[in-house]
Amino acid sequence: MPVDILVGLQWGDEGKGKIVDVLAPQYDVVARFQGGPNAGHTLEFEGTKHVLHQIPSGIFHEHITNIIGNGVVLDPIVFCTEVEKLAARGVEVTRNLFISKKAQLILPSHKSLDRISEEALGTSKIGSTQKGIGPAYQDKIGRSGLRVGDTLLPDFKEKYEAIVEKHQKIASFYQKSLEIEALEEDFFNAVEFLRSFTLVDSEYMINQAIKDGKKILAEGAQGSLLDIDFGTYPFVTSSNTLVAGACTGLGIAPRHIGEVYGIFKAYCTRVGSGPFPTELHDEVGEKIRQAGREFGSTTGRPRRCGWIDLPTLKYAIMLNGVTQLNMMKADVLDGFDEIQICTHYQLPDGSITDQLPHDMEKTEITPIYKSMKGWGEELRSYESYQELPSTVLEYVAYLEQELGVGVNIISVGPDRKSTLTK
Ligand code: GDP
Ligand code: IMO
Ligand code: MG
Repeated sequence: MPVDILVGLQWGDEGKGKIVDVLAPQYDVVARFQGGPNAGHTLEFEGTKHVLHQIPSGIFHEHITNIIGNGVVLDPIVFCTEVEKLAARGVEVTRNLFISKKAQLILPSHKSLDRISEEALGTSKIGSTQKGIGPAYQDKIGRSGLRVGDTLLPDFKEKYEAIVEKHQKIASFYQKSLEIEALEEDFFNAVEFLRSFTLVDSEYMINQAIKDGKKILAEGAQGSLLDIDFGTYPFVTSSNTLVAGACTGLGIAPRHIGEVYGIFKAYCTRVGSGPFPTELHDEVGEKIRQAGREFGSTTGRPRRCGWIDLPTLKYAIMLNGVTQLNMMKADVLDGFDEIQICTHYQLPDGSITDQLPHDMEKTEITPIYKSMKGWGEELRSYESYQELPSTVLEYVAYLEQELGVGVNIISVGPDRKSTLTK
């Protein structure tokens, strides 16, 4: 059985959590392959809203095996809180959650270093979630990180102390000291808690599941434009958020990849710093923010809002090999008579392109828009894709024609049920 992969095509928060939850009943395994607690994946059903940071969004289905893969950076403290929150809501995770021994640990000192390096950047800061993601991946690539499996070693504490000593030296380079004392006790308690879970060689588990004909869904975090290689560097996260990241982040050979779901909003948002060509700084942007409740699921920060951007979507579709598109939050545009679609960029030399310039931050980009009629009515009450107002279907048909991929799902509200399938 091939492995299907779901990825965000914009700058994150496209609604990945919701769609994984909607698709989950069709799958036996749901696995996260990169990122960490910088992610905030929201699911809403039966009147309750859940936000997951590290636990895969298949967790609410008892039949599903949920895996935190080797490509993830895991914060034991956040993990512990997340499990406790779920338990308080009657969701027992110990039976169907498995954690790769090769996933990297986020230490309190990684979080401290994240804050210190952001402060040092001043106005050029990345706008990191400050969850320790960058420093933890730096240690991974620098071959000095600690992994989940290391928590089982008798000398784990000594290894921990050695790495903290190194972090202390980095902090002193910035003339700062690590502020970790208050967190260390929680960290070691959380590590103890983590050890009580089933820690696995998830690459074997997943490849066995493939052999056994099980259906697997890999759940991406962040978005394609935050990818460390292809995103709007340096304003990116520190992992490969693209489909390719699922191969290294789970141990799946490329020939096993099946469907690739590409998730995008009917407009566009970004949280944190960095280029965003279609950003709206006016009352239109504010209207989208309020209607879409565009405030970060992890940090609560207001998200920057703007019109949909086809050059970035085409780029993300190309890099991911998207086979099906899902358009989210169509209902947020209910109140607009006219909707703008950015089809091309005009560059400072007057040329017009639908490709992304190498340095989007430094290049002055003027978006070129096509205007389409809005639907001006509430979409949430619609229960069928085909019966949606013709203006919505025309908007989607135009996107399909430009992007070359079909839109199989249109989402018209945060609830599981507000999902219209073609
Ligand atoms: P993720 O990180 O990609 O999982 O997305 P987030 O959960 O961070 O952000 C998406 C937000 O939009 C959440 O608050 C969802 O509940 C909400 N949402 C998802 N789909 C829809 C939709 O179709 N309409 C509306 N209005 N909200 C939605
Ligand atoms: P989900 O999975 C939106 C952004 C941060 C910042 C940059 C780097 O919920 O879509 P980091 O903490 O990774 O060092 O921050 O990336 N960012 C996200 N933006 N959704 C996310 O995840 C994000 N994870 C990181 O705001 O600009
Ligand atoms: Mg999110």
